[in-house]
This record gives sequence, structure tokens and C-alpha cells, in this order.
Amino acid sequence: MPGETNGHVSHRVPKDRHPTPEKRMDNAAMLYLDLLKRCLTNWLYGNVEEAKVRFEGLMSPEAALFCRSQGIRLLQRRSYEPRLRSEGRDWPPTAHTMIGPRRLDNLQFCIEDVLAHHIPGDLIETGVWRGGATIFMRAVLKCPVLAAPVCEPALLILCQVRRTLTG
Ligand SMILES: C[S@@+](CC[C@H](N)C(=O)[O-])C[C@H]1O[C@@H](n2cnc3c(N)ncnc32)[C@H](O)[C@@H]1O
Repeated sequence: MPGETNGHVSHRVPKDRHPTPEKRMDNAAMLYLDLLKRCLTNWLYGNVEEAKVRFEGLMSPEAALFCRSQGIRLLQRRSYEPRLRSEGRDWPPTAHTMIGPRRLDNLQFCIEDVLAHHIPGDLIETGVWRGGATIFMRAVLKCPVLAAPVCEPALLILCQVRRTLTG
């Protein structure tokens, strides 16, 4: 994760030899959200990502047509740049979200702030792409230690145009 290698500070669980059950739950929630950030941004496999490559220029139009008809794709190994991924400034070929772990941190902070202040209402993401940020929003809302003070779980509303970004 960025904190370990390049500056991004992930959630660190303080060492506590005899945590209370509440504290244990709190730590588990933080670890769960941290793991989810790594999964949704493909941090776990960022060094072995593969991006789709166009057929054009690499083979005849007939061969390209044949490949397409057979569902064959060309993939190129492409390692991510951790700093760019961390800040959500690259275009991940396989991650569920392009916003990166630091912006997911910010999203978490915003939702926690809303919950802590008992602000009523729903949450909406307008333009979900592959849905990773909304999956993360749902996870934050599901964390009992965070969501407990809320009377009713907020609705999560997803919007996406039909013609979407490629990838
Ligand atoms: C920069 S991406 C969003 C990335 C996404 N939030 C994530 O977590 O990776 C912008 C998304 O908004 C969608 N979009 C653009 N204009 C839109 C509109 N008018 N209504 C709904 N979705 C829209 C695009 O198709 C794309 O999926």
C-alpha cells in the first residue's frame, strides 16, 4: 500500500495487547476498509496489470476480424506507477475504481463525518464507471462501528450514462 512504499498513509491499527471488544471491532473495520481499498484500486496486483492493445497495425484486418469473432484479445503487461495510482491519476486497466486509495480515504472521511454528525439523507455517485467507489461507500455504511449511530442506513444511489468510458 502507498504508506509502506511511497508515502500514502493507510489506516494503521495501533498495537494494543488487551483491546476491548469494541476496539477489536473498530480495528477489524479499519483493516477491512483498508483491504477493500487495496482490492478496488487493484493495488494488490498493480505490478502485473495487463492493458488491452488495439489490433490495428499489428495484424491484417482479416486476422483482426477473426480474433474479434473468437473473443481473442491482445494484452500488454504494464506495471502501475504507485504514486499515480495512489492519487487516482492513472487509468487502471482492471481496477474497479480509478480514484485511487487516497481519494477513497477522503471518501471515507466524508461519509464518517456525515455519520458522526447525524446528517440525514442519502448518498449518490453520479458517474460510477466500474462501481468501485460506490462499493466502497456501501462498505463504509455497513461498518457497524461507523454506522451504529445512524437511525436508518442511507440509500446509495448510483448513476451512470449508458455510453460509458472505454475499459
Ligand atoms: C471519471 S469517471 C468516474 C470514476 C468513478 N467515480 C470511479 O470510482 O472510478 C466518470 C464517469 O461518469 C460517467 N458520466 C459522465 N457523464 C455522465 C452523466 N451526464 N451522467 C451520468 N454519468 C456520467 C462516465 O461514463 C464515467 O463512468
